[in-house]
Amino acid sequence: MRTGEIVAGALAPHPPHLVYADNPPQNEPTAECGWETLRWGYQRFRKDLADRDIDVIVVYTPHWQTYIGTHFLGVPHLQSVSVDPIFPNLFRFHYELDVDVRLAKDIHDRARDGGIVTKMMENPDFRVDYGTIVSCHLTRPEWDIPIVSISSNRSAAYYSIEVMQEQAAVIGRATRDAVLASGKKAVLLASNSLSHRHFTTEGELPEDMTREHIYHHGQYLWDMRLIELMREGRSRELIDIMPEFIEQAVSEADGGGLTWLISALDYPEYAAEIYAYGTVIGTGNVVAGWHPGRAAGVAQ
Ligand SMILES: [Fe+2]
Repeated sequence: MRTGEIVAGALAPHPPHLVYADNPPQNEPTAECGWETLRWGYQRFRKDLADRDIDVIVVYTPHWQTYIGTHFLGVPHLQSVSVDPIFPNLFRFHYELDVDVRLAKDIHDRARDGGIVTKMMENPDFRVDYGTIVSCHLTRPEWDIPIVSISSNRSAAYYSIEVMQEQAAVIGRATRDAVLASGKKAVLLASNSLSHRHFTTEGELPEDMTREHIYHHGQYLWDMRLIELMREGRSRELIDIMPEFIEQAVSEADGGGLTWLISALDYPEYAAEIYAYGTVIGTGNVVAGWHPGRAAGVAQ
């Protein structure tokens, strides 16, 4: 059997606005335009993946919140409508997706063996969260390969950011080991924004870009600091400042996705490709990709 491979890892934020502005047939509302910088960034990320063999997408989402343990989608095929509870005017998305249950179960088992409380989600009527759907859709709008989705246990809220990081790192290691053992080629997605303070009112036209800007300069400085560390391959330092960043920027990285990703990539010392940075209702979002094979000089 061939050796598995993490083809790429990405910080892949999930504002539903980006799907809304892309106007895919699955989404009921339609838009004129909007948030082009981020959408074009995702397009460049997709272009970088276009000639790669990919068997599975593994996504870690902060919007599937499980308070007892970390859960994994464990149903081979799921189909329903996903409605954003905050923005039902922007996101009513008809999805149909396949799950790589075998890989999900192996990550589950390895995380459990590493001391994490885990559960396979086996309810066939389960509604998949929009964090999973948006990040996967923007990475692979064809929906032609299976996914694995990992929940967020919210341990940053119930214990501390340090506990969250320890647990996310174990799940990241479990993900890495399971992918390598599977013989499959995987793309990993951390589905979250960076700074996460946002506006509390919406204009009449959601895609009116005259309203779109960072919420607060301090948040912007924090986002730039994190991106600088990504660009310079200083991922250990990024993990070290994560607690302060999450507190100061109210970051959605509190769900564990970014820590999980960095751990699964084995703390890369090479630069991430920054595809785009932009705000959505004032939150800071970066589409950033790590390409381990490219960094190692492997012909691709
Ligand atoms: Fe979110």
